[in-house]
Amino acid sequence: MKIYYYEDQKTWVLSTQNVDYALGVDRFGRLQHLYWGKSLKGIHDFPKADDLRVYCFESPKGYSREEIMPWGGLKYTEPGLKVTFANHTRDLDLVYDHFQIIGDAELVVSLKDKSQLFSIHLHYRVIENYDIIERYVEIRNEGTMPVKLEQVMGAIWHFPVFSDYRLTYLAGHWAAELQVRQELLQEGKKVIESRHGSTGHYFNPWFAIDTGTGNEEYGEIYYGAVAFSGNWKIVIEKTPFQTLQVAAGLNDFDFLWELEPSQSFTSPVCIGGYSDCGFGKASRNMHHYQQELIRPSLNELNPVLYNSWNATIFDVNEKDQKSLAEKAAALGVELFVIDDGWFGQRYDDKAGLGNWYVNREKFPDGLAPLIKHVRELGMKFGIWVEPEMVNPDSDLYRKHPDWVYHFPDRERSEFRNQLVLNLGREDVKQFILDMMDELMSDNDISFVKWDMNRYFSEPGWPEAPASKHKEVWIRHVEGLYEIWRILNEKYPKVTFESCSGGGGRIDLGIMRYADQFWVSDNCNAFDRLQINEGYTYAYHAKAMASWVVDGPWKSFKYRFHCAMMGALGIAMNLNKLTEEELDATRQFIQQYKEISATVQEGDLYRLLSPRSSMGAVVQYVNKVKTQAVVFAFRHIYQLSLYLPPIRLKGLDPEGEYFSETLNITRSGASLMNRGIEIKLNENFSSQLIVFQMSH
Ligand code: GLA
Repeated sequence: MKIYYYEDQKTWVLSTQNVDYALGVDRFGRLQHLYWGKSLKGIHDFPKADDLRVYCFESPKGYSREEIMPWGGLKYTEPGLKVTFANHTRDLDLVYDHFQIIGDAELVVSLKDKSQLFSIHLHYRVIENYDIIERYVEIRNEGTMPVKLEQVMGAIWHFPVFSDYRLTYLAGHWAAELQVRQELLQEGKKVIESRHGSTGHYFNPWFAIDTGTGNEEYGEIYYGAVAFSGNWKIVIEKTPFQTLQVAAGLNDFDFLWELEPSQSFTSPVCIGGYSDCGFGKASRNMHHYQQELIRPSLNELNPVLYNSWNATIFDVNEKDQKSLAEKAAALGVELFVIDDGWFGQRYDDKAGLGNWYVNREKFPDGLAPLIKHVRELGMKFGIWVEPEMVNPDSDLYRKHPDWVYHFPDRERSEFRNQLVLNLGREDVKQFILDMMDELMSDNDISFVKWDMNRYFSEPGWPEAPASKHKEVWIRHVEGLYEIWRILNEKYPKVTFESCSGGGGRIDLGIMRYADQFWVSDNCNAFDRLQINEGYTYAYHAKAMASWVVDGPWKSFKYRFHCAMMGALGIAMNLNKLTEEELDATRQFIQQYKEISATVQEGDLYRLLSPRSSMGAVVQYVNKVKTQAVVFAFRHIYQLSLYLPPIRLKGLDPEGEYFSETLNITRSGASLMNRGIEIKLNENFSSQLIVFQMSH
């Protein structure tokens, strides 16, 4: 049992392996947050719902740490819920009604408004092994008139009182996504969000809170994420009373959902986690939770892929692709992916999106001959699509100009010469579904790279009733999830990649349907170290697609080592590589296959941050601790400044480990306590060190 209910105190305790999370009903009937942190011994250890400290000039009815913080009464912090009832009442007064425990890991606590026929149901799921709690809110209109939902969060998180709170989050932009940022919080609100329609490049829906002293290995870290691929918002609010509340969920910006009688509305799932051993453990728990529970793996590793985009750009045709496929197969590539340019009038990015039929000039007999060739070469075949988009210069747009978001009296702003299709519309959703279904059933496709290369603008839907206009933000994402869910079900063996002009759609919502993420269009290995670091704070390495590309940037080896830290892809122009380079590529791919299970599914330890002036070191250990893989990178070498000795983590102290690269055999205890010296004394040099347990 992971959920305990104490009737006399009306308190619930959710218990994971190391953590307790408690909530209870106070004398006013409100559902108060009581505790979140290391496991306690018994019910007498937890605060009572009426023990809340009252501050000067605050009413006990006002200062509150409610689990969802409905807006109403004397409450002023960021609300978890804000509504307007049909009688124009703009106030929620939610009191406890009943609860239900489902199985041994799910709790639903139901609250109802004191005078309106309106209820909300707080769902909690305990992820015992990883000290994570999943939450979402279900709202039901039990009255006879519509209710306007104006703000819906999935969770309000309350934290213990610390003398300092430090926020860690992931920010950036195209080609520099997911940079780790940290700041000490002062009173006021810090908002990270997307208003772009999709998850976005600028912030990722993940955050962590600690006292400012936590590091990779030590310290209490609280963290959370929103599983949503549209307009999301996380408000981190330090109150004048030095307490901290985080509201996480849907963005209320331009949001309005009219909830009809007898209908319900469900918030995105939010997760909250706790680590007593720094950011490292927090990340590892997230990684395993994702692999086991969000998108349980197909028991297969993500294959080594070749993507021909960089080699041919839009100039794809059967002959050239076949020839690249032959070269890729000879290198040990397992999946051949053809990117943009295979369809419609797609000769550049000005036309063709929406015309999802094979371009017969480029592929006279369709895709079948190429796919057959790729299969005969022993590889799987993958394809690029961007179904949410349309070029105005396309048959689809000429036929259905009303299918895109627009306002009748406004210009339709183009970006990359394209507009966004309105997935809230049933006909558009059906068109995309039929198109994908036809493509995937007609062709032997094992991998889909689903791209999205612009944000929303002029988000109008003139044909819909006015009361529904602001629902587009949610309906688009729901439509997208529905399409992916149906495709996942129908094609369970197909690997799906979420891409959005680089890393613009990486989140736990799309991860339910996506096996991997395109993390960034920036494949410069040095830049990528930092992007990947931020990525691994929140997401697992198996889903981290990384390419080796052409370019003068860094040595061949350095570029390979960087890309081998996730799901390896090759995107160099194989026609231009020398024999020597082809040989090296073959060897790196072979080496990757020997370690890919450890990299993709093992425990990841960030041993030296690329944000340091020296370099970066990341280690992976497989579950049975028989293989450890260390990637080390040097930034600019400064005379006589050496990389510090690196102490490995997560090994069996009793085990003997052999490294061919270093030609040493040492015990796990020695590798972890004495460490190893990594001699990288050249600018942008790198080393891959594999340790294999010998007994
Ligand atoms: C986006 C992707 C690239 C490539 C192009 C194709 O920019 O991030 O990898 O697929 O689109 O147009």
